[in-house]
Amino acid sequence: MMERLVNNWVSSVSKLCFILCLFILAQQTCAQEGFLSIACCADHNYTDLNTNISWVEDSSWYPDKTGCQKITRAAANYTGYNETRIFDIDFSGKRCYSLDTIKGQDYLIRGTFLYYGDTILKTSFSISVGVTEISQVKNSPKELEVEGVFRANKSYIDFCVVKTEGAPYISQLELRQLKGLEYLQGFSSSVQKLVKRVDLGSKEGDIIRFPADPSDRIWKSDNISGSTSKPNHVADAKVVNYNANVGVPLQVLQTALTDPSRLEFSPDDLDTGDFQYRVILYFLELNETVQPGSRLFDIYINNEKKETSFDILGNGSNYKELSFNVNANGVLNLTLERSSGSSLGPICNAYEIFQVFPWKQETSPNDADVILEVKSQLLVWNQQNKVLESWTGDPCLPTPWKGLTCGPINDSTVITNLDLSSMNLNGSIPPNVTLLTNLNTLNMSYNGFTGEIPDFPSSSMLRSVDLRSNDLSGPLPRSLLMLPDLERLYIGCNQKIVREYPSSFNSSKLDTRSETCSSTVQGSSRSKHIMIIGSVACGSFILTVAAGVFLVCFYKKKLMPQGIFNGKGFKGHSRTKKTGGVIFSIPIIEEIVVKSISIQTFSLANIETATQNYKTLIGEGGFGSVYRGTLPEGQDVAVKVRSATSTQGTREFENELNLLSTIRHENLVPLLGYCCENDQQILVYPFMSNGSLQDRLYDYLFTGEASARKKKLDWPTRLSIALGAARGLTHLHTYAGRCVIHRDVKSSNILLDQSMTAKVADFGFSKYAPQEGDSGASLEVRGTAGYLDPEYYTTHHLSDKSDVFSFGVVLFEIISGREPLNIRRPREQWSLVEWAKQHARESNIDEIVDPSIRGGYHAEAMWRVVEAALSCIEPFSAYRPCMADIVRELEDALIIENNASEYMRSIESSGSIVLDKRIVIPSSNPTEASPILTQALPPPEPR
Ligand SMILES: *[C@@H]1O[C@H](CO)[C@@H](O)[C@H](O)[C@H]1NC(C)=O
Ligand SMILES: *[C@@H]1O[C@H](CO)[C@@H](O)[C@H](O)[C@H]1NC(C)=O
Ligand SMILES: *[C@@H]1O[C@H](CO)[C@@H](O)[C@H](O)[C@H]1NC(C)=O
Ligand SMILES: *[C@@H]1O[C@H](CO)[C@@H](O)[C@H](O)[C@H]1NC(C)=O
Ligand SMILES: *[C@@H]1O[C@H](CO)[C@@H](O)[C@H](O)[C@H]1NC(C)=O
Repeated sequence: MMERLVNNWVSSVSKLCFILCLFILAQQTCAQEGFLSIACCADHNYTDLNTNISWVEDSSWYPDKTGCQKITRAAANYTGYNETRIFDIDFSGKRCYSLDTIKGQDYLIRGTFLYYGDTILKTSFSISVGVTEISQVKNSPKELEVEGVFRANKSYIDFCVVKTEGAPYISQLELRQLKGLEYLQGFSSSVQKLVKRVDLGSKEGDIIRFPADPSDRIWKSDNISGSTSKPNHVADAKVVNYNANVGVPLQVLQTALTDPSRLEFSPDDLDTGDFQYRVILYFLELNETVQPGSRLFDIYINNEKKETSFDILGNGSNYKELSFNVNANGVLNLTLERSSGSSLGPICNAYEIFQVFPWKQETSPNDADVILEVKSQLLVWNQQNKVLESWTGDPCLPTPWKGLTCGPINDSTVITNLDLSSMNLNGSIPPNVTLLTNLNTLNMSYNGFTGEIPDFPSSSMLRSVDLRSNDLSGPLPRSLLMLPDLERLYIGCNQKIVREYPSSFNSSKLDTRSETCSSTVQGSSRSKHIMIIGSVACGSFILTVAAGVFLVCFYKKKLMPQGIFNGKGFKGHSRTKKTGGVIFSIPIIEEIVVKSISIQTFSLANIETATQNYKTLIGEGGFGSVYRGTLPEGQDVAVKVRSATSTQGTREFENELNLLSTIRHENLVPLLGYCCENDQQILVYPFMSNGSLQDRLYDYLFTGEASARKKKLDWPTRLSIALGAARGLTHLHTYAGRCVIHRDVKSSNILLDQSMTAKVADFGFSKYAPQEGDSGASLEVRGTAGYLDPEYYTTHHLSDKSDVFSFGVVLFEIISGREPLNIRRPREQWSLVEWAKQHARESNIDEIVDPSIRGGYHAEAMWRVVEAALSCIEPFSAYRPCMADIVRELEDALIIENNASEYMRSIESSGSIVLDKRIVIPSSNPTEASPILTQALPPPEPR
């Protein structure tokens, strides 16, 4: 009996406990209604034990954790959140978090930015609420909080970081609904950025926030600056008659500052430029014995008197708030001064200062909603598409999403072009693209779109629609053919499209020659008629190749006179035969056309004649051998022959052929032609008479007599070679809007022509950057030891930044004249990168500079290059610059160097010494070809 009672008792107590707990829990979550707290990069959701605020991880915005970084704090006792998400932005210049809001409600939004530190790379970005920019972050080594208040004008708000330079980052993001607070009264179309929110009189380091402040404003103490005398702190005053509805937490009002004569506040770090500010002052009389009229003071802002003989106790209450709007430029001086005749000096409990930014108009709501819908329709079939992932925030402002072009119409911003070509998109065409009413061109070519083409509303202003090279089916919608403004329609390479045109459709103007799926050349594009380009079925590969051959011949004939290569000796039947035997697969015919303009096919006999039966071997590598040759017209060539035993070569051969044949740049080795007869795979390049950069740099290669004749490269020449190579790589990385990654950047792949112009060579390993849908991780890591990006090596995640790393190693080679790996040196010098980094960090430049150029360089120029090299070899790829940034740095360095040389020359021209910067380099003997050449490219060669 007794036992049961006890049991009952225990169970009811635990029940009660449970209910109580539920209640407390409910209250807490209730109190946090309207809160959203995002912990960027967190592994899981969690509750902060100090504030009870629930934080959510940000994987629903950014599932990828590769940009996550733990911050090691300088202050050892820092216990706060310590992760930062770093955005390595290439596509669009911004990344945003889109947060749900209720239209018409007021919100506070607060981002926290923990600097990820320890890098010489410049980082600067701006922060925007919606598309209104409220703050700039420039290399801030401090923890930074940026807060704004705004009124929601739709069902969500974007909080964005917008790249200026480097990689933007963010650690935390908080959204708080402001209940019963009137910050936006009269300012509904603005974002007010918090400049300062100060709880006066509190202990240094004290912070008051949720739950004391139901809206989770953060009130911080302030150390007083600029006051004439030390004001008294009134702390922990017993407050009577406190009205809980005043909107400021009691804890904040309980402390105050007072002074017998004056209080002065002047926040520093204000933005320069004319801005509107709002100053809000909070007063609560803390001394019960004070009578109305005995504490009177005047209030000045920037020397302008705003209030005279202000009395907190003025009309029966002991609490007052004052709010002022002022325009200021860089300085705000807030002064409270005892009025004459007042017995007590001024008191102040708290103040806030906001900077007002007028709300910037976003993209026209119709277009924004439609493109968001298009994005979600595309995402159904294309999860993890990198381009779609980058589509965050406003579609047009401040920078448009990749693939979008925007323009103004009637004071609003609209989307005028949509280019989704070659983005590896699958699924059906998102039906909502037809609803973009201001669209002029729509390009969805070279994707895997399937299904039928949607109907277009007649209000559409489309002039050009490109649907080539997809897998679309069904009829051409009448609505599309009859669009009033349509001038061009490309439907080639969609074998399942039913080509039937309504009788009213004027198909007599079809240009039949363009009716292959290849051509983008329009002879008659200026006349306004509709061309259906590519209506020949092209499912059959043979047919496409035949079409290709036709075009090859056609364009050859037309372009021969200006062609890079004069094929006089190689025309006729042999060419047709060889092209017919194409052994590589080319995804789109267009490439054949481009290719045919500039490259030549050779017969085996041609090659044998040119190389005198492979007489002069000038290099060997994994691919095979490289021979010297001369074409019938006298051009010197390097002939790269895949060896029969090479198993790894086929793919590289096709790769290089496909890539090189379409890419042209002054700083890339051009492909002259190829031969693929009898299973031979042979590539023909112009001969680079000055060999490779590697040959020109290293001591140990030049032994014996030949080395004595070789002059070492001087510094300005090294610089211009580096610059040339950087430009070549930049071209690759930005090629045709798709990034081509070289994957084997090294000094032996930087060749020098007779005028010492750098040409990047060997595209055998090159790849298009993994951008579309694919995981980005490739199975095999390629590259050369000493140059290999450690991040790529460990994660298998390939990006253009891997080339940047390798290029950094090349820069150190240029500076030091040393090879990247040499185990014959003392242990600490095996790795060039480690050794150079060590000395560079200690500013010991002289230690690492090649002894043969000591005294021959300008220190500033050298430093620029060292810094560029250091930034390239940052272990974490997001910190590394892009090649374009390096080009700029090297350009600057070269200008500095040249100016310095110019100056030297002017001094010395008065004397007898004449500096000759031209390099005269006698060529080496071919048998000396570098033993460490692994990529079979031509080293220097006697003429
Ligand atoms: C974190 O919380 C959010 C919102 O409540 C939820 O959608 C998400 O699934 C949670 N994540 C985890 C890992 O529990
Ligand atoms: C980051 O914070 C977590 C949890 O507070 C802690 O365990 C970890 O050591 C911190 N890491 C660094 C690098 O400070
Ligand atoms: C860290 O904490 C210790 C003991 O808690 C304290 O003595 C020290 O001053 C703190 N250091 C900093 C930088 O706050
Ligand atoms: C309160 O005000 C009275 C005068 O009204 C003054 O004498 C007294 O010192 C004040 N008390 C404090 C704590 O400042
Ligand atoms: C701030 O304003 C007060 C009152 O106008 C003036 O006396 C004071 O010199 C000003 N201080 C600064 C730093 O400008």
